Amino acid sequence: MAIAAVFNPEKQDMHENIQENMQTLCDQLRRYEHAYYVLDAPLVTDAEYDRIFQQLQALEALHPDLILPNSPTQRVGGSAVDAFSKVAHALPMLSLGNVFDETELTAFVKRCQDGLSTSEVSIDNPVVFGAELKFDGLALCLRYENGLLVQAATRGDGAVGEDVTHNVKTIRNVPLRLMGQGIPSVLEVRGEVLMSRADFAALNQRQATLNEKQFVNPRNAAAGSLRQLDAKITAQRPLTFYAYGIGQHTLDNLPATHAQTLALLAAFGLPVYQQPRLCDGVEALLAAFKDFGVQRDNLPFDIDGVVYKVNDYAQQAALGFVSRAPRWAVAHKFPAQEMQTKLLAIDVQVGRTGVLTPVARLEPVFVGGVTVTNATLHNETEIHRKQLMVGDTVVVRRAGDVIPEVVMVVEHLREGGQGAYVPYVLPRLCPVCQSPTEQDTAGDGVQVRCINTAACPAQLKQGIWHFAHRRAMDIDGLGDKIVDLFVDLGWVHNVADLFDPAVINLARLSDLERFGEKSASNLLAAIEVAKTRP
Ligand code: IVH
Repeated sequence: MAIAAVFNPEKQDMHENIQENMQTLCDQLRRYEHAYYVLDAPLVTDAEYDRIFQQLQALEALHPDLILPNSPTQRVGGSAVDAFSKVAHALPMLSLGNVFDETELTAFVKRCQDGLSTSEVSIDNPVVFGAELKFDGLALCLRYENGLLVQAATRGDGAVGEDVTHNVKTIRNVPLRLMGQGIPSVLEVRGEVLMSRADFAALNQRQATLNEKQFVNPRNAAAGSLRQLDAKITAQRPLTFYAYGIGQHTLDNLPATHAQTLALLAAFGLPVYQQPRLCDGVEALLAAFKDFGVQRDNLPFDIDGVVYKVNDYAQQAALGFVSRAPRWAVAHKFPAQEMQTKLLAIDVQVGRTGVLTPVARLEPVFVGGVTVTNATLHNETEIHRKQLMVGDTVVVRRAGDVIPEVVMVVEHLREGGQGAYVPYVLPRLCPVCQSPTEQDTAGDGVQVRCINTAACPAQLKQGIWHFAHRRAMDIDGLGDKIVDLFVDLGWVHNVADLFDPAVINLARLSDLERFGEKSASNLLAAIEVAKTRP
């Protein structure tokens, strides 16, 4: 009697059947996830994926004892942890030396070539470097045992990191189980966790509607999301992972090069953003740096430079390490997109539609490749949200061609200590024409508007400049300074005045200090051309 309860062949059969079904569904979902999240090439509709997912969930609900540990349903599981436990890295997670210009890059390349010149690994094998993106996220080490993700750890101090397995399992493009042939018993995959710019913007928007704190940039958002004690929160934060190397492993046939290893990782189903670009010297590396710099603005995520790695593993081994960085790799950094500077004043600009926009006047700072002295502050609400005060040290960001913005105040550098915020108030009269203003609530804050639409000189200037602009009437030579002048002289009161020969003519223009005869006739010709535009 008791024996029957211990072993029931019928029940055993049934279990094997169910487990087989579960395995099939898991494999199917894994293939779909890989196609969707790693290859960006979905195999089925979202609805079909959901249908299979629910089928598996239903089966697992009936037989919780049979749930496969790396089932796609188990990405969010368990309860929140109290603290992160420490993980000693099997092999240290290194950092990279930096170069900032051609001279430093040349020195790096020469060090590699000289270091290998007498070594047998480079006699018939010139030094080739792989150039790849330097992801602006957080380093992560994924440990797979027999193809299953068993641990994910942050870099920490390079020797000891934190166990973030519960959170990393929620990252959709991290395979919970590897696929393909030749999977080793141990494989550590190293790479970067990041948040795309679009996901970052959506997250901040959501945070704003929930009255929760805003993240400064995608990197901070990724860091904050990864270091959550409750994986349910991480699961709502859209993180992405890209592999850039390996750590400890038991691969029987380790490829001969870094590039081949990345290809192997991709074959195992891991996300590799792109293959390194192979370069044979300084010139080729600089060309790659330039191209990546152009690619930068079109990438869905932030990068902060390019990493160059000696491609051949034997050459890497011959070069070895200095302290905590390899001699065979270096990071070539882009000019920083965020810098600290002083907020000198908050001025107010009146736009074409009368909206009063606060503008930050900044101590000049070199950021994103240019010197920035002004940044938009959008509206009063935005200033309150960031708690900005004149005299503060602020973080300024300029990414690509986007207008510079003040990201946040560096509160601990505020004179007089924290909590001393005195709310900024926009002027209640138009600073240009002194007319009253009205308020309306725009999408992201209160807008204050000068009601003098007919005669406010600021609105007039902006309106005319907008009209003459390259993407409108395209009147060459009628820039903002000239428009200001015409309005200040009382010549132009509306766009029609521009075309009135009694207002703008050669005699009048030639009298102005700004105009020579040539530039005056050029402007008149441009106005003539504009008359023919639809
Ligand atoms: S390789 C042995 N490759 O940069 C070399 N690192 O300052 C170890 N990083 O902590 C790193 N993109 O998190 C490597 N394509 C890339 C990278 C990359 C970003 C980060 C990494 C590391 C830091 C080094």
